[in-house]
Amino acid sequence: MDRQRKTARRINAVIFTLLMLGLDSALAATPPQAGIATAHPLATRAGLEILAQGGNAFDAAVAVTAMLAVVEPTGSGLGGGGFWLLHRAGDGFETLLDGRETAPQAAHRDMYLGSDGEVIKGLSIDGPLAAGIPGIPAGMTHLAEHYGRLSLAHSLAPAIRQAREGFAVSEHYRRMATFRLAALRASPAAAALFLQDNEIPPEGYQIRQPELADTLEAIARQGHDGFYRGPVAKKLVDGVRSAGGIWTLPDLTSYRVIEREPIRARYRSPHGEMRITSAAPPSSGGITLATTLNILSGYNLDAQDSVTRKHLIIEAMRRAYRDRAVYLGDPDFTRIPVERLLHPYYADGLRAAIRPDRALPSDYLPGVETGPKGRDTTHFSILDRAGNRVAATLTINYPFGSGFVAPGTGVLLNDEMDDFSARPGTPNVYGLVGGEANAIAPGKRPLSSMSPSFLQTEHGVAVVGTPGGSRIISMLVLAALDFATGGDARSMVGLPRFHHQYLPDVVHYETAALSEDEVAELELRGHTLREFTQGWGNMQVVVWDKKHAVVSAAADPRVEGEAATQ
Ligand code: DON
Repeated sequence: MDRQRKTARRINAVIFTLLMLGLDSALAATPPQAGIATAHPLATRAGLEILAQGGNAFDAAVAVTAMLAVVEPTGSGLGGGGFWLLHRAGDGFETLLDGRETAPQAAHRDMYLGSDGEVIKGLSIDGPLAAGIPGIPAGMTHLAEHYGRLSLAHSLAPAIRQAREGFAVSEHYRRMATFRLAALRASPAAAALFLQDNEIPPEGYQIRQPELADTLEAIARQGHDGFYRGPVAKKLVDGVRSAGGIWTLPDLTSYRVIEREPIRARYRSPHGEMRITSAAPPSSGGITLATTLNILSGYNLDAQDSVTRKHLIIEAMRRAYRDRAVYLGDPDFTRIPVERLLHPYYADGLRAAIRPDRALPSDYLPGVETGPKGRDTTHFSILDRAGNRVAATLTINYPFGSGFVAPGTGVLLNDEMDDFSARPGTPNVYGLVGGEANAIAPGKRPLSSMSPSFLQTEHGVAVVGTPGGSRIISMLVLAALDFATGGDARSMVGLPRFHHQYLPDVVHYETAALSEDEVAELELRGHTLREFTQGWGNMQVVVWDKKHAVVSAAADPRVEGEAATQ
Protein backbone atom coordinates (compact mmCIF):
# COMPACT_ATOMS: atom_id res chain seq x y z
CA MET A 1 0.00 0.00 0.00
CA ASP A 2 2.73 2.37 1.12
CA ARG A 3 4.76 1.51 -1.91
CA GLN A 4 1.71 2.09 -4.13
CA ARG A 5 1.17 5.53 -2.59
CA LYS A 6 4.82 6.38 -3.01
CA THR A 7 4.73 5.30 -6.63
CA ALA A 8 1.54 7.33 -7.20
CA ARG A 9 3.16 10.37 -5.56
CA ARG A 10 6.22 9.93 -7.73
CA ILE A 11 4.10 9.68 -10.85
CA ASN A 12 2.21 12.81 -9.79
CA ALA A 13 5.50 14.62 -9.24
CA VAL A 14 6.72 13.59 -12.66
CA ILE A 15 3.45 14.71 -14.27
CA PHE A 16 3.64 18.02 -12.40
CA THR A 17 7.23 18.57 -13.49
CA LEU A 18 6.35 17.72 -17.06
CA LEU A 19 3.40 20.10 -16.93
CA MET A 20 5.59 22.87 -15.51
CA LEU A 21 8.25 22.23 -18.10
CA GLY A 22 5.58 22.23 -20.78
CA LEU A 23 4.16 25.48 -19.45
CA ASP A 24 7.58 26.98 -19.20
CA SER A 25 8.51 26.06 -22.72
CA ALA A 26 5.04 27.08 -23.91
CA LEU A 27 5.56 30.47 -22.27
CA ALA A 28 9.03 30.76 -23.72
CA ALA A 29 7.85 29.48 -27.08
CA THR A 30 5.86 32.57 -27.94
CA PRO A 31 7.28 36.06 -27.75
CA PRO A 32 5.17 38.71 -26.02
CA GLN A 33 5.42 40.96 -29.08
CA ALA A 34 6.44 40.90 -32.70
CA GLY A 35 9.47 42.92 -33.80
CA ILE A 36 10.62 44.29 -37.14
CA ALA A 37 13.75 46.23 -38.05
CA THR A 38 14.35 47.36 -41.62
CA ALA A 39 16.36 49.97 -43.48
CA HIS A 40 13.32 52.13 -44.32
CA PRO A 41 10.38 53.32 -42.17
CA LEU A 42 7.86 52.54 -44.96
CA ALA A 43 9.14 48.95 -45.16
CA THR A 44 8.84 48.49 -41.39
CA ARG A 45 5.28 49.82 -41.58
CA ALA A 46 4.39 47.48 -44.46
CA GLY A 47 5.60 44.54 -42.36
CA LEU A 48 3.59 45.66 -39.34
CA GLU A 49 0.50 46.16 -41.53
CA ILE A 50 0.70 42.59 -42.81
CA LEU A 51 1.23 41.17 -39.30
CA ALA A 52 -1.79 43.13 -38.06
CA GLN A 53 -3.86 41.58 -40.88
CA GLY A 54 -3.07 38.09 -39.64
CA GLY A 55 0.05 37.43 -41.68
CA ASN A 56 3.00 35.57 -40.19
CA ALA A 57 6.68 36.62 -40.27
CA PHE A 58 7.03 35.10 -43.74
CA ASP A 59 4.13 37.13 -45.16
CA ALA A 60 5.63 40.20 -43.51
CA ALA A 61 8.98 39.36 -45.11
CA VAL A 62 7.31 39.28 -48.54
CA ALA A 63 5.75 42.69 -47.89
CA VAL A 64 9.03 44.14 -46.60
CA THR A 65 11.06 42.70 -49.50
CA ALA A 66 8.63 44.22 -52.01
CA MET A 67 8.43 47.56 -50.20
CA LEU A 68 12.22 47.86 -50.04
CA ALA A 69 12.29 47.15 -53.79
CA VAL A 70 10.16 50.28 -54.17
CA VAL A 71 11.47 52.72 -51.56
CA GLU A 72 15.13 51.73 -51.27
CA PRO A 73 16.35 51.47 -54.87
CA THR A 74 19.86 52.13 -53.61
CA GLY A 75 19.94 48.78 -51.85
CA SER A 76 17.81 45.99 -53.29
CA GLY A 77 14.95 45.40 -55.68
CA LEU A 78 13.29 43.06 -58.17
CA GLY A 79 16.43 43.23 -60.29
CA GLY A 80 18.59 41.84 -57.47
CA GLY A 81 19.16 38.77 -55.35
CA GLY A 82 19.51 37.74 -51.73
CA PHE A 83 19.15 35.26 -48.92
CA TRP A 84 16.22 34.76 -46.55
CA LEU A 85 17.03 32.72 -43.43
CA LEU A 86 13.85 31.25 -41.96
CA HIS A 87 12.90 29.73 -38.62
CA ARG A 88 9.45 28.17 -38.36
CA ALA A 89 8.29 28.14 -34.77
CA GLY A 90 5.79 25.25 -35.06
CA ASP A 91 8.39 22.57 -35.73
CA GLY A 92 11.72 24.39 -35.41
CA PHE A 93 12.42 23.90 -39.13
CA GLU A 94 15.15 26.19 -40.44
CA THR A 95 16.17 26.82 -44.02
CA LEU A 96 18.02 29.31 -46.18
CA LEU A 97 16.25 30.52 -49.30
CA ASP A 98 19.02 31.11 -51.80
CA GLY A 99 17.72 33.73 -54.23
CA ARG A 100 21.18 34.73 -55.36
CA GLU A 101 21.61 35.89 -58.96
CA THR A 102 23.00 33.46 -61.53
CA ALA A 103 25.43 34.22 -64.34
CA PRO A 104 23.69 34.19 -67.74
CA GLN A 105 24.41 31.19 -70.00
CA ALA A 106 26.44 33.42 -72.33
CA ALA A 107 28.75 34.48 -69.48
CA HIS A 108 32.30 33.17 -69.49
CA ARG A 109 35.24 33.37 -67.16
CA ASP A 110 37.18 36.07 -69.02
CA MET A 111 34.23 38.23 -70.01
CA TYR A 112 35.51 41.29 -68.12
CA LEU A 113 39.12 41.04 -69.33
CA GLY A 114 40.64 43.08 -72.16
CA SER A 115 42.98 41.65 -74.80
CA ASP A 116 45.87 42.47 -72.44
CA GLY A 117 44.37 40.11 -69.84
CA GLU A 118 43.61 42.98 -67.46
CA VAL A 119 40.17 43.61 -65.93
CA ILE A 120 38.33 46.33 -67.89
CA LYS A 121 37.30 48.82 -65.25
CA GLY A 122 33.57 49.34 -64.82
CA LEU A 123 32.41 46.52 -67.10
CA SER A 124 31.25 44.35 -64.19
CA ILE A 125 29.82 47.36 -62.34
CA ASP A 126 27.92 49.66 -64.72
CA GLY A 127 25.27 48.76 -67.29
CA PRO A 128 23.46 45.53 -68.17
CA LEU A 129 26.56 43.42 -68.85
CA ALA A 130 27.18 43.61 -65.08
CA ALA A 131 23.80 42.08 -64.22
CA GLY A 132 23.16 38.51 -63.13
CA ILE A 133 19.73 36.89 -63.51
CA PRO A 134 17.66 38.24 -60.60
CA GLY A 135 16.48 36.06 -57.72
CA ILE A 136 14.47 38.41 -55.51
CA PRO A 137 11.14 37.95 -57.38
CA ALA A 138 11.60 34.17 -57.19
CA GLY A 139 12.52 34.31 -53.50
CA MET A 140 9.52 36.46 -52.68
CA THR A 141 7.04 34.20 -54.46
CA HIS A 142 8.62 31.05 -53.01
CA LEU A 143 8.37 32.52 -49.52
CA ALA A 144 4.69 33.36 -49.96
CA GLU A 145 3.74 30.04 -51.55
CA HIS A 146 5.59 27.72 -49.19
CA TYR A 147 5.63 29.55 -45.87
CA GLY A 148 3.07 32.37 -45.87
CA ARG A 149 -0.46 32.37 -44.61
CA LEU A 150 -1.79 35.17 -46.81
CA SER A 151 -1.91 35.31 -50.60
CA LEU A 152 1.04 36.74 -52.50
CA ALA A 153 -1.23 39.47 -53.89
CA HIS A 154 -2.22 40.47 -50.35
CA SER A 155 1.38 40.82 -49.17
CA LEU A 156 2.45 42.71 -52.30
CA ALA A 157 -0.39 45.24 -52.03
CA PRO A 158 1.42 47.82 -49.82
CA ALA A 159 4.41 47.94 -52.20
CA ILE A 160 2.20 48.27 -55.29
CA ARG A 161 0.32 51.15 -53.64
CA GLN A 162 3.60 52.87 -52.68
CA ALA A 163 5.12 52.47 -56.14
CA ARG A 164 2.15 54.40 -57.58
CA GLU A 165 1.95 57.00 -54.78
CA GLY A 166 5.69 57.63 -54.65
CA PHE A 167 8.22 57.99 -51.86
CA ALA A 168 10.26 60.98 -50.75
CA VAL A 169 13.90 61.42 -51.67
CA SER A 170 16.08 61.43 -48.53
CA GLU A 171 19.55 62.70 -47.83
CA HIS A 172 20.86 59.12 -48.03
CA TYR A 173 19.24 58.69 -51.46
CA ARG A 174 20.85 61.91 -52.67
CA ARG A 175 24.28 60.82 -51.47
CA MET A 176 24.03 57.44 -53.19
CA ALA A 177 22.59 58.92 -56.41
CA THR A 178 25.46 61.42 -56.51
CA PHE A 179 27.91 58.53 -56.20
CA ARG A 180 26.21 56.64 -59.07
CA LEU A 181 25.19 59.64 -61.21
CA ALA A 182 27.16 58.65 -64.32
CA ALA A 183 25.73 55.10 -64.38
CA LEU A 184 22.17 56.37 -63.86
CA ARG A 185 22.54 58.96 -66.62
CA ALA A 186 23.79 56.27 -69.00
CA SER A 187 20.41 54.48 -68.78
CA PRO A 188 17.57 56.74 -70.04
CA ALA A 189 14.94 54.67 -68.19
CA ALA A 190 16.92 54.89 -64.94
CA ALA A 191 17.50 58.62 -65.32
CA ALA A 192 13.78 59.21 -65.95
CA LEU A 193 12.91 57.29 -62.77
CA PHE A 194 15.57 58.25 -60.30
CA LEU A 195 16.77 61.71 -61.42
CA GLN A 196 14.98 64.97 -62.06
CA ASP A 197 15.90 66.39 -65.48
CA ASN A 198 19.07 64.29 -65.34
CA GLU A 199 20.11 65.87 -62.01
CA ILE A 200 19.96 64.69 -58.39
CA PRO A 201 16.43 65.43 -57.13
CA PRO A 202 16.04 67.58 -54.00
CA GLU A 203 15.10 66.11 -50.63
CA GLY A 204 11.36 65.46 -50.43
CA TYR A 205 10.96 65.04 -54.22
CA GLN A 206 8.51 62.18 -54.89
CA ILE A 207 9.80 59.18 -56.85
CA ARG A 208 6.82 57.50 -58.53
CA GLN A 209 7.29 54.15 -60.28
CA PRO A 210 4.10 53.17 -62.19
CA GLU A 211 5.92 50.64 -64.37
CA LEU A 212 7.42 48.95 -61.33
CA ALA A 213 3.87 48.84 -59.89
CA ASP A 214 2.73 47.10 -63.11
CA THR A 215 5.57 44.57 -62.83
CA LEU A 216 4.67 43.89 -59.18
CA GLU A 217 1.04 43.46 -60.24
CA ALA A 218 2.08 40.90 -62.85
CA ILE A 219 3.85 39.00 -60.05
CA ALA A 220 0.81 39.37 -57.78
CA ARG A 221 -1.38 37.85 -60.51
CA GLN A 222 0.88 35.13 -61.85
CA GLY A 223 3.46 34.53 -59.15
CA HIS A 224 6.96 33.49 -60.30
CA ASP A 225 5.94 33.40 -63.97
CA GLY A 226 4.74 37.01 -63.83
CA PHE A 227 8.43 38.01 -63.81
CA TYR A 228 10.31 35.11 -65.39
CA ARG A 229 7.96 34.47 -68.36
CA GLY A 230 5.63 36.49 -70.52
CA PRO A 231 5.68 40.23 -71.24
CA VAL A 232 7.86 41.30 -68.29
CA ALA A 233 10.55 38.71 -69.13
CA LYS A 234 10.49 39.74 -72.76
CA LYS A 235 10.90 43.43 -71.93
CA LEU A 236 13.78 42.60 -69.57
CA VAL A 237 15.63 40.56 -72.17
CA ASP A 238 14.98 43.05 -74.99
CA GLY A 239 16.10 45.96 -72.82
CA VAL A 240 19.26 44.21 -71.64
CA ARG A 241 20.27 43.01 -75.11
CA SER A 242 19.66 46.31 -76.86
CA ALA A 243 22.02 47.98 -74.37
CA GLY A 244 24.87 45.49 -74.78
CA GLY A 245 23.86 42.79 -72.29
CA ILE A 246 23.73 39.03 -72.85
CA TRP A 247 20.54 37.78 -71.16
CA THR A 248 18.22 35.36 -72.95
CA LEU A 249 14.67 34.23 -72.16
CA PRO A 250 15.89 30.73 -71.13
CA ASP A 251 18.14 32.42 -68.55
CA LEU A 252 15.00 33.79 -66.94
CA THR A 253 12.72 30.77 -67.36
CA SER A 254 15.33 28.45 -65.84
CA TYR A 255 15.92 30.57 -62.70
CA ARG A 256 15.16 28.70 -59.46
CA VAL A 257 15.30 29.44 -55.76
CA ILE A 258 17.35 26.83 -53.91
CA GLU A 259 16.58 25.86 -50.32
CA ARG A 260 19.83 25.17 -48.50
CA GLU A 261 20.72 23.80 -45.09
CA PRO A 262 22.00 26.77 -43.06
CA ILE A 263 25.52 26.81 -41.59
CA ARG A 264 25.54 26.09 -37.87
CA ALA A 265 28.29 26.90 -35.39
CA ARG A 266 28.86 27.38 -31.69
CA TYR A 267 30.77 30.04 -29.83
CA ARG A 268 31.96 29.22 -26.34
CA SER A 269 32.86 31.85 -23.77
CA PRO A 270 32.72 32.17 -19.97
CA HIS A 271 29.22 33.60 -20.52
CA GLY A 272 28.03 30.26 -21.87
CA GLU A 273 27.43 28.88 -25.30
CA MET A 274 25.96 30.77 -28.24
CA ARG A 275 24.55 28.92 -31.22
CA ILE A 276 24.86 30.57 -34.61
CA THR A 277 22.67 29.80 -37.61
CA SER A 278 23.72 31.62 -40.75
CA ALA A 279 23.93 31.72 -44.53
CA ALA A 280 25.44 28.76 -46.44
CA PRO A 281 27.41 29.00 -49.70
CA PRO A 282 27.09 30.66 -52.18
CA SER A 283 27.28 33.08 -49.28
CA SER A 284 30.61 33.07 -47.53
CA GLY A 285 28.94 34.60 -44.47
CA GLY A 286 28.15 31.57 -42.34
CA ILE A 287 31.46 29.75 -42.83
CA THR A 288 33.62 32.84 -42.38
CA LEU A 289 31.66 33.87 -39.29
CA ALA A 290 31.96 30.32 -37.92
CA THR A 291 35.73 30.12 -38.50
CA THR A 292 36.28 33.48 -36.81
CA LEU A 293 34.18 32.52 -33.79
CA ASN A 294 35.71 29.02 -33.62
CA ILE A 295 39.15 30.62 -33.39
CA LEU A 296 37.93 33.07 -30.74
CA SER A 297 36.27 30.29 -28.70
CA GLY A 298 39.78 29.29 -27.64
CA TYR A 299 40.41 32.52 -25.76
CA ASN A 300 38.80 34.09 -22.75
CA LEU A 301 38.33 37.48 -24.40
CA ASP A 302 37.00 38.97 -21.15
CA ALA A 303 40.34 38.32 -19.51
CA GLN A 304 42.36 40.20 -22.15
CA ASP A 305 43.28 43.88 -22.03
CA SER A 306 41.29 45.81 -24.62
CA VAL A 307 44.09 46.06 -27.23
CA THR A 308 44.91 42.36 -27.07
CA ARG A 309 41.21 41.54 -27.33
CA LYS A 310 40.93 43.59 -30.53
CA HIS A 311 44.22 42.26 -31.87
CA LEU A 312 43.01 38.66 -31.43
CA ILE A 313 39.69 39.42 -33.13
CA ILE A 314 41.56 41.03 -36.05
CA GLU A 315 43.92 38.06 -36.36
CA ALA A 316 40.95 35.66 -36.34
CA MET A 317 39.22 37.72 -39.06
CA ARG A 318 42.39 37.74 -41.19
CA ARG A 319 42.57 33.94 -41.21
CA ALA A 320 38.86 33.34 -41.79
CA TYR A 321 38.74 35.85 -44.68
CA ARG A 322 41.80 34.20 -46.20
CA ASP A 323 39.91 30.91 -46.33
CA ARG A 324 37.00 32.74 -47.91
CA ALA A 325 39.24 33.88 -50.76
CA VAL A 326 40.76 30.46 -51.31
CA TYR A 327 37.92 27.97 -50.81
CA LEU A 328 34.52 29.57 -51.22
CA GLY A 329 32.23 29.85 -54.21
CA ASP A 330 28.97 28.39 -55.51
CA PRO A 331 28.73 24.88 -53.97
CA ASP A 332 27.00 23.59 -57.10
CA PHE A 333 30.15 24.36 -59.11
CA THR A 334 33.03 24.02 -56.70
CA ARG A 335 33.91 21.54 -53.97
CA ILE A 336 34.08 23.32 -50.63
CA PRO A 337 35.67 21.49 -47.67
CA VAL A 338 32.81 22.63 -45.41
CA GLU A 339 33.29 20.01 -42.72
CA ARG A 340 36.99 20.84 -42.35
CA LEU A 341 36.44 24.60 -42.37
CA LEU A 342 33.79 24.32 -39.64
CA HIS A 343 35.69 21.81 -37.48
CA PRO A 344 36.92 23.08 -34.10
CA TYR A 345 40.26 21.25 -34.63
CA TYR A 346 40.83 23.22 -37.81
CA ALA A 347 40.29 26.45 -35.86
CA ASP A 348 42.69 25.13 -33.18
CA GLY A 349 45.34 24.91 -35.89
CA LEU A 350 44.72 28.44 -37.06
CA ARG A 351 44.73 29.74 -33.50
CA ALA A 352 48.02 28.03 -32.70
CA ALA A 353 49.78 30.34 -35.15
CA ILE A 354 48.37 33.53 -33.65
CA ARG A 355 50.77 35.55 -31.53
CA PRO A 356 49.18 37.85 -28.97
CA ASP A 357 51.92 40.43 -29.47
CA ARG A 358 52.39 40.47 -33.26
CA ALA A 359 50.24 40.79 -36.36
CA LEU A 360 50.91 38.18 -39.02
CA PRO A 361 51.40 39.85 -42.42
CA SER A 362 48.71 38.45 -44.74
CA ASP A 363 51.41 37.71 -47.33
CA TYR A 364 52.71 34.99 -45.01
CA LEU A 365 49.47 33.04 -45.37
CA PRO A 366 49.37 30.84 -48.45
CA GLY A 367 46.61 32.11 -50.69
CA VAL A 368 45.53 33.77 -53.86
CA GLU A 369 47.43 36.92 -54.82
CA THR A 370 45.67 40.16 -54.58
CA GLY A 371 38.48 48.65 -50.47
CA PRO A 372 35.37 47.81 -49.17
CA LYS A 373 32.20 49.92 -48.43
CA GLY A 374 28.95 49.80 -46.67
CA ARG A 375 25.38 51.08 -46.99
CA ASP A 376 23.75 49.83 -50.09
CA THR A 377 22.21 46.38 -50.05
CA THR A 378 19.64 45.95 -47.32
CA HIS A 379 18.90 43.76 -44.36
CA PHE A 380 15.72 43.25 -42.38
CA SER A 381 14.89 41.17 -39.32
CA ILE A 382 11.42 39.97 -38.33
CA LEU A 383 10.05 38.01 -35.37
CA ASP A 384 6.31 37.35 -35.16
CA ARG A 385 4.26 36.53 -32.07
CA ALA A 386 4.29 32.83 -32.86
CA GLY A 387 8.10 32.90 -32.75
CA ASN A 388 8.65 32.58 -36.53
CA ARG A 389 11.75 34.45 -37.63
CA VAL A 390 13.15 35.86 -40.86
CA ALA A 391 16.60 37.36 -41.33
CA ALA A 392 17.00 38.54 -44.92
CA THR A 393 19.85 40.31 -46.66
CA LEU A 394 19.01 41.42 -50.19
CA THR A 395 20.99 43.33 -52.74
CA ILE A 396 21.51 44.78 -56.17
CA ASN A 397 25.18 45.09 -55.09
CA TYR A 398 26.49 48.62 -55.68
CA PRO A 399 24.29 51.65 -54.81
CA PHE A 400 21.56 51.63 -57.52
CA GLY A 401 23.08 48.35 -58.78
CA SER A 402 24.30 48.57 -62.37
CA GLY A 403 22.36 51.83 -62.77
CA PHE A 404 20.44 50.21 -65.64
CA VAL A 405 16.64 50.04 -65.84
CA ALA A 406 15.12 47.77 -68.47
CA PRO A 407 12.69 50.05 -70.35
CA GLY A 408 9.02 49.45 -69.59
CA THR A 409 9.63 47.35 -66.47
CA GLY A 410 10.72 49.83 -63.78
CA VAL A 411 13.25 47.15 -62.77
CA LEU A 412 16.69 48.41 -61.80
CA LEU A 413 19.24 45.69 -62.51
CA ASN A 414 21.98 44.46 -60.22
CA ASP A 415 25.73 44.42 -60.85
CA GLU A 416 26.27 41.21 -58.92
CA MET A 417 28.61 39.83 -61.60
CA ASP A 418 31.28 41.93 -59.88
CA ASP A 419 31.07 39.55 -56.91
CA PHE A 420 32.70 36.90 -59.07
CA SER A 421 36.44 36.90 -59.22
CA ALA A 422 36.92 38.48 -62.68
CA ARG A 423 40.55 37.39 -62.60
CA PRO A 424 42.26 35.35 -59.87
CA GLY A 425 43.86 37.71 -57.39
CA THR A 426 42.41 40.94 -58.80
CA PRO A 427 40.34 42.64 -56.11
CA ASN A 428 36.67 43.41 -56.81
CA VAL A 429 34.89 46.61 -55.84
CA TYR A 430 35.07 45.60 -52.15
CA GLY A 431 38.78 44.80 -52.37
CA LEU A 432 37.97 41.09 -52.10
CA VAL A 433 40.11 38.61 -53.94
CA GLY A 434 39.24 35.11 -55.04
CA GLY A 435 40.39 32.34 -57.30
CA GLU A 436 39.12 29.34 -59.16
CA ALA A 437 36.33 28.59 -56.69
CA ASN A 438 34.65 31.90 -57.54
CA ALA A 439 35.51 32.17 -61.25
CA ILE A 440 32.67 33.07 -63.64
CA ALA A 441 30.74 30.21 -65.27
CA PRO A 442 27.31 30.05 -66.94
CA GLY A 443 24.51 29.49 -64.43
CA LYS A 444 26.87 29.91 -61.46
CA ARG A 445 26.07 32.09 -58.44
CA PRO A 446 28.70 34.65 -57.40
CA LEU A 447 30.14 34.33 -53.91
CA SER A 448 28.41 36.64 -51.45
CA SER A 449 29.26 38.03 -48.02
CA MET A 450 25.64 38.47 -47.04
CA SER A 451 25.11 36.85 -43.66
CA PRO A 452 21.54 36.88 -42.37
CA SER A 453 21.87 35.10 -39.00
CA PHE A 454 20.17 33.87 -35.85
CA LEU A 455 22.13 33.93 -32.59
CA GLN A 456 20.89 31.92 -29.66
CA THR A 457 22.05 31.91 -26.06
CA GLU A 458 20.36 30.59 -22.94
CA HIS A 459 18.89 34.08 -22.52
CA GLY A 460 17.30 34.49 -25.90
CA VAL A 461 17.51 34.87 -29.63
CA ALA A 462 18.77 37.60 -31.94
CA VAL A 463 17.75 38.00 -35.57
CA VAL A 464 20.53 39.97 -37.21
CA GLY A 465 22.25 41.10 -40.40
CA THR A 466 23.58 44.09 -42.31
CA PRO A 467 24.75 45.32 -45.70
CA GLY A 468 28.37 46.34 -46.10
CA GLY A 469 30.03 44.25 -48.80
CA SER A 470 33.10 42.50 -47.46
CA ARG A 471 32.59 44.11 -44.05
CA ILE A 472 29.29 42.34 -43.47
CA ILE A 473 30.96 39.34 -41.87
CA SER A 474 33.22 41.29 -39.53
CA MET A 475 30.21 43.34 -38.40
CA LEU A 476 28.42 40.09 -37.63
CA VAL A 477 31.45 38.86 -35.65
CA LEU A 478 31.43 41.98 -33.46
CA ALA A 479 27.65 41.90 -33.00
CA ALA A 480 27.75 38.18 -32.13
CA LEU A 481 30.49 38.74 -29.53
CA ASP A 482 28.42 41.57 -28.05
CA PHE A 483 25.28 39.39 -27.88
CA ALA A 484 27.25 36.53 -26.32
CA THR A 485 28.33 38.82 -23.50
CA GLY A 486 24.84 40.14 -22.76
CA GLY A 487 24.47 42.84 -25.42
CA ASP A 488 21.03 43.82 -26.71
CA ALA A 489 19.58 45.00 -30.02
CA ARG A 490 20.58 48.61 -29.44
CA SER A 491 24.15 47.87 -28.41
CA MET A 492 24.64 45.50 -31.35
CA VAL A 493 23.63 48.05 -33.98
CA GLY A 494 25.46 50.91 -32.29
CA LEU A 495 28.77 49.17 -31.60
CA PRO A 496 31.81 50.95 -33.11
CA ARG A 497 33.28 48.68 -35.80
CA PHE A 498 36.67 47.48 -36.94
CA HIS A 499 37.49 45.14 -39.77
CA HIS A 500 40.20 43.03 -41.38
CA GLN A 501 39.63 40.99 -44.57
CA TYR A 502 43.04 39.33 -45.16
CA LEU A 503 43.78 41.48 -48.21
CA PRO A 504 44.36 44.36 -48.32
CA ASP A 505 46.40 43.82 -45.16
CA VAL A 506 44.87 46.79 -43.33
CA VAL A 507 42.68 47.20 -40.26
CA HIS A 508 39.77 49.52 -41.07
CA TYR A 509 38.14 51.17 -38.08
CA GLU A 510 35.39 53.60 -37.23
CA THR A 511 36.71 56.50 -35.20
CA ALA A 512 35.06 55.40 -31.97
CA ALA A 513 36.27 51.80 -32.27
CA LEU A 514 39.87 52.45 -31.24
CA SER A 515 41.34 54.97 -28.85
CA GLU A 516 44.55 56.80 -29.79
CA ASP A 517 46.47 54.56 -27.41
CA GLU A 518 44.96 51.45 -28.97
CA VAL A 519 45.88 52.66 -32.46
CA ALA A 520 49.46 53.24 -31.33
CA GLU A 521 49.66 49.86 -29.62
CA LEU A 522 48.20 47.97 -32.59
CA GLU A 523 50.71 49.68 -34.86
CA LEU A 524 53.48 48.54 -32.54
CA ARG A 525 52.22 44.97 -32.92
CA GLY A 526 52.58 45.29 -36.69
CA HIS A 527 49.12 46.34 -37.90
CA THR A 528 48.50 48.96 -40.56
CA LEU A 529 45.40 50.96 -39.69
CA ARG A 530 42.99 53.15 -41.60
CA GLU A 531 40.36 55.31 -39.94
CA PHE A 532 36.86 55.78 -41.44
CA THR A 533 35.22 58.84 -39.90
CA GLN A 534 31.87 58.18 -41.67
CA GLY A 535 31.49 54.63 -40.38
CA TRP A 536 29.83 51.80 -42.27
CA GLY A 537 26.98 49.30 -42.18
CA ASN A 538 23.23 49.42 -41.66
CA MET A 539 22.50 46.65 -39.18
CA GLN A 540 18.95 45.65 -38.27
CA VAL A 541 18.36 43.55 -35.16
CA VAL A 542 15.39 42.02 -33.34
CA VAL A 543 16.07 40.39 -29.98
CA TRP A 544 13.72 38.19 -28.04
CA ASP A 545 14.97 38.18 -24.47
CA LYS A 546 13.32 34.98 -23.26
CA LYS A 547 14.50 35.40 -19.71
CA HIS A 548 12.73 38.72 -19.21
CA ALA A 549 10.01 38.03 -21.84
CA VAL A 550 10.85 41.19 -23.76
CA VAL A 551 11.16 41.79 -27.49
CA SER A 552 13.29 44.70 -28.66
CA ALA A 553 14.22 45.87 -32.12
CA ALA A 554 16.85 48.34 -33.25
CA ALA A 555 17.88 49.94 -36.53
CA ASP A 556 21.44 51.07 -37.14
CA PRO A 557 21.72 54.69 -35.96
CA ARG A 558 24.11 55.43 -38.84
CA VAL A 559 21.38 55.46 -41.50
CA GLU A 560 17.60 55.92 -41.84
CA GLY A 561 16.05 52.60 -40.84
CA GLU A 562 13.25 52.10 -38.36
CA ALA A 563 12.56 49.40 -35.82
CA ALA A 564 9.27 48.67 -34.07
CA THR A 565 7.52 46.15 -31.86
CA GLN A 566 3.79 45.50 -31.73
O1 DON B 1 26.69 39.78 -51.92
C1 DON B 1 27.57 40.53 -51.50
O2 DON B 1 28.41 40.19 -50.69
C2 DON B 1 27.59 41.96 -51.99
N1 DON B 1 27.00 42.05 -53.28
C3 DON B 1 26.90 42.82 -50.98
C4 DON B 1 27.02 44.26 -51.33
C5 DON B 1 26.81 45.15 -50.19
O3 DON B 1 26.59 44.75 -49.08
C6 DON B 1 26.92 46.58 -50.50
N2 DON B 1 26.77 47.34 -49.31
N3 DON B 1 27.49 48.11 -48.94
